[in-house]
Amino acid sequence: MLKISIIQLLPKFADQRQNIKKINKLLLRTSQSDLVVLPELASTGYNFINKEQAFSLAELPENSEYVEMLVSHAQKNKQIIVSGYHELYDNNLFNSSLLITEDGIAGKYRKVHLFMNEKAIYEPGDLGFPVFSIKGLKLGMLICFDYLFAEAWRIVGLKGAEIIAHPSNLITQNATKAIPAQAMINRFFVVTANRTGTERNITFNGRSFAVDPNGDFIVRLPDDKETISTFSINPKAARDKLITPLNHVFNDRFPDMYKEILEKDLT
Ligand code: ACM
Repeated sequence: MLKISIIQLLPKFADQRQNIKKINKLLLRTSQSDLVVLPELASTGYNFINKEQAFSLAELPENSEYVEMLVSHAQKNKQIIVSGYHELYDNNLFNSSLLITEDGIAGKYRKVHLFMNEKAIYEPGDLGFPVFSIKGLKLGMLICFDYLFAEAWRIVGLKGAEIIAHPSNLITQNATKAIPAQAMINRFFVVTANRTGTERNITFNGRSFAVDPNGDFIVRLPDDKETISTFSINPKAARDKLITPLNHVFNDRFPDMYKEILEKDLT
């Protein structure tokens, strides 16, 4: 069994020092978990006024007090931590997710599907949709609004992901409709760690959750509270892709008939 914690966070906008302190404290409460998932942009907050402000708050992950703090917990507890991260790379900004283990940064994903004003701040992710083999697990990462794109879920599913860690800053309820369906269609687990609070005109709605390969909720968190939820799963359940004795969700596909999807305009 794999013990997982979701940290539903209320970060303080643009105050990394305060957020590092707070997340450090919260991680002390998840020391028994094998995998901990934190929200999108956990160390900075979300709603940057402009690109200039966003640049002033971005860091290289290799030179970040926040990442050092995460690594120290991963080392002490021999656990995996996934966290959203406001990434500076090669003079560009990416809305990223880091996979942290006792060895440091073991994996990275950069959000491909940018939401609203993120388009004025970030570059679309350029790392594809990777799946990492880590401590006997196959783990993929998507970030928040990526959830709306079935193609992304399918790719990580076909690459063998058993669990998708999904750091989020959600503002609608749509993810609670779409994600259970994707978990069921691809037969994997999804762990969505959302945040709470308001930044200027945006209110984040909490309600983090985890779903199993049947699309059923394992846990659902409240809307308004910074809180932690810990639960156990058997990740091997995601290896069974049979939805009936005669139907395999991947092997029953007809990829040759889907090639049209690569064309920009099908009208
Ligand atoms: C979002 O992608 N943060 C809604």
